[in-house]
Amino acid sequence: MRYSAAAIVAGASLAAAQVPAWGQCGGIGFSGSTTCVSGYTCKYSNPYYSQCLPGTASATPTTTARTTSTTSTSTSAASTPTSTGTPSTGSGLDAKIKAKGKLYFGTAVDQNTLSVSQIDSIVKAEFGVVTPENSMKWDSTESTQGSFTLTGADYLVNYATTNGKKVRGHTLVWHSQLPGWVSNINSAATLTSVIQNHVTTIMTRYKGKILHWDVVNEVFEDSGVMRNSVFYRLLGEQFLDIAFKAARAADPAAKLCLNDYNLDYASDKLTNFVALVNRLIARGVPIDCVGTQAHLIVGNGAIPYSSTYISQLAGTGLDVAITELDIRMTLPSDATKVAQQSTDYTNVVKACLGNTKCVGITVWGVDDGHSWVPSTFSGQGDALLWNSSYQKKAAYTAVSNALN
Ligand code: G3I
Repeated sequence: MRYSAAAIVAGASLAAAQVPAWGQCGGIGFSGSTTCVSGYTCKYSNPYYSQCLPGTASATPTTTARTTSTTSTSTSAASTPTSTGTPSTGSGLDAKIKAKGKLYFGTAVDQNTLSVSQIDSIVKAEFGVVTPENSMKWDSTESTQGSFTLTGADYLVNYATTNGKKVRGHTLVWHSQLPGWVSNINSAATLTSVIQNHVTTIMTRYKGKILHWDVVNEVFEDSGVMRNSVFYRLLGEQFLDIAFKAARAADPAAKLCLNDYNLDYASDKLTNFVALVNRLIARGVPIDCVGTQAHLIVGNGAIPYSSTYISQLAGTGLDVAITELDIRMTLPSDATKVAQQSTDYTNVVKACLGNTKCVGITVWGVDDGHSWVPSTFSGQGDALLWNSSYQKKAAYTAVSNALN
């Protein structure tokens, strides 16, 4: 299914006067109305953003106040736009983490994996959020300039809406899985409008249906310097400002995240990531959350200190999400590795539970048979919570117990 960018964006005009449901009603630099439509109240989200949420007034929003972390977390829950499905119930991981005050326990899937009946059943029973593993990436959605192919993304969002799941949108601006026509752009002005059009078109298409968006992904090299992508080469750090501002304008209800990997231990990358986020906040870029991917290795010595590194991310004042958790091992598996993996998963889950800014956890896939790990890291695998026969592993039990 193809859509013209203009047709999608054209339907997105917002009414003025009273702020509509889920709309922005305050924040530093905001000059619009602070009065919400009937049944909605303007509630503080962060210094740069207040939002019309369902319910009656409890406090007047300000542009500078900071709520407690707990309040911030519950605000995020209330702002969840996907309201057409039934909430998760029962004893699945999502229900258990919600009972601990978090927003969700999620997983990464797409049409290919959701079409496997065992995976479909597991997702329905266990998870509250789905992240498109590949279908919302640039090479999937706009492989030709201005021509959008959203079949896979539509499938994922429709699945979520139908089954009462929320969606973490992933990802809009990323150096990888990026079509050549973008990589080959050599004009800053052209790249700016290309980013704006890409972000606006896709976010408008799913406006009101996405909980979090990974607006920008992996802007740092492993060494901790800014990645030498076409975005950074032509626009410097401003490409983040351009993307996040377009994102906020397209879907004010979505929480906007910067996502990266290797933020799980002390490093220049973690230090520089936090510094970048603080610079973005300081100059008014609309960012709500940071994502730490957490692609981990069994027995990594930093894992027991996960809470420390989550605290550093939370020190930005933004929500923190663990976005792509898996913990791989060198195969073959044995009892020692399985026990260590259970300990490692327990540590990560408890680190999130122990930090009020940590809003939720996503594991990067359901079963070991569909994990990205074996094809990327030769000889490694068994990173997820279900085995390739769709049986729960010891790691699942460890996660479930950590949520008790
Ligand atoms: O769709 C094509 C198919 O047409 C073709 O025949 C086949 C041949 O190799 O490739 C298919 O594309 C693959 C795509 O996944 C969809 O299955 C790519 O080769 C493969 O490289 C791609 O891998 C994905 C990877 O991102 C790409 O960087 C993984 O599934 C996905 O799990 C992984 O996810 C990333 C996150 O987005 C960002 N953080 C890291 C994480 C793991 O790498």
